[in-house]
Amino acid sequence: MLHNKRILLIMGGGVAAYKSLDLIRRLRERGMQVRAILTRAGAEFVTPLAVASLSGEKCYSDLFSLTDEAEMGHIRLSREADLVLVAPATADLMAKMANGLANDLASTALLATDKQVMLAPAMNVQMWNNPATRRNVETLQSDGVLMVGPDDGLMACGETGAGRLSSVEDILASVDAFFTSENALRPLAGKKALVTAGPTHEPIDPVRYLANRSSGKQGYAIAASLAALGADVTLVSGPTALSTPASVKRIDVERATEMAQACDNALPVDIAVCVAAVADWRVESEQSGKIKKTSDGVPPAFTFVENPDILAHLSGLATDRPALVIGFAAETDNVLKRAKDKRQRKGCDWIIANDVSPSSGIMGGDETSVTLITGDGLEQWPQSSKTEVAGNLALRIVDYFSSLPS
Ligand code: C5P
Repeated sequence: MLHNKRILLIMGGGVAAYKSLDLIRRLRERGMQVRAILTRAGAEFVTPLAVASLSGEKCYSDLFSLTDEAEMGHIRLSREADLVLVAPATADLMAKMANGLANDLASTALLATDKQVMLAPAMNVQMWNNPATRRNVETLQSDGVLMVGPDDGLMACGETGAGRLSSVEDILASVDAFFTSENALRPLAGKKALVTAGPTHEPIDPVRYLANRSSGKQGYAIAASLAALGADVTLVSGPTALSTPASVKRIDVERATEMAQACDNALPVDIAVCVAAVADWRVESEQSGKIKKTSDGVPPAFTFVENPDILAHLSGLATDRPALVIGFAAETDNVLKRAKDKRQRKGCDWIIANDVSPSSGIMGGDETSVTLITGDGLEQWPQSSKTEVAGNLALRIVDYFSSLPS
């Protein structure tokens, strides 16, 4: 399966570039074809001759080389690959990618490619932790770029921390995993999915808001699992502290009305999973200035209006109704009965019931215990991590679509 896969390896300038020489050898041992671009800085650490000897192909390095452009234009170079692997991915290369800069062959190929890009970052720990690099990583992940590492440990510069290039073994494992999932484990390829996650914040005044407790972990895990199975996922997220899962398009919103609008904008989709803990109400008139305490000690009175119910809305769409609409029912008592009623009332196809009573310890944690309620009955799933629940749900979704008559 890996035989004849074509890798475009982009080698940035860092002392870890020497490991990429071994990577070339190991990729070729697996039957893959490796074509390499060495940045000008990369060529300070390893020689084009070593790269060419190991890859068995010319080593490309200069955007403005007339002979290179005549033989193999940068566009062709970026397209004639099954995977674009950047190792080592330096802070500079990542910053260029995150901002769409293209001023040398490597960055131009990265901007021009229509293939999956996988980065194996390598840099000093301070550079990795710098807010600029953090922002770039976030941007790149939300653009669907895959990341391997970096590892933690002692670096060539003598400092210790995150930023070491992943081991050649780990990079190879990620490349294998990519092709395995690409070929065989992408049963949702071609399907569009919409996932809502996190809380909504309903402003009361410029400093206060009304919200439900929600970490967003379950929704993010579902978005990640669906994307890993090949779905084209839009994640509409309320405020959370989580990073965007690989290959997921994330749209950040604050209020329920914004979430509802963002969901409508994402239509049509095949699958909608509403995991967000949407605030049921918002205050009727949000104050433009901070509400002050009064000397008489009388607290302010608010009038609430109901927020749109996104799950019910998507379930009831006359046109563009997703083929499968799934809701969550977080309840503290009478969990199953309430969840079954909710499925009927909201008109969704499936509902996942979970007990969020304080004694369950589920709220904000990593473990959860759920029951899937479909039109055919109940399925109690064993207590497991939110990631496992997400993986199981994604597989159930695959079953659902594969059981439909084609
Ligand atoms: O009514 P309740 O909030 O308990 O319903 C929970 C389910 O409905 C969840 O799937 C949640 O994402 C969804 N929901 C929604 N819009 C709302 C309220 C809840 O999509 N305004």
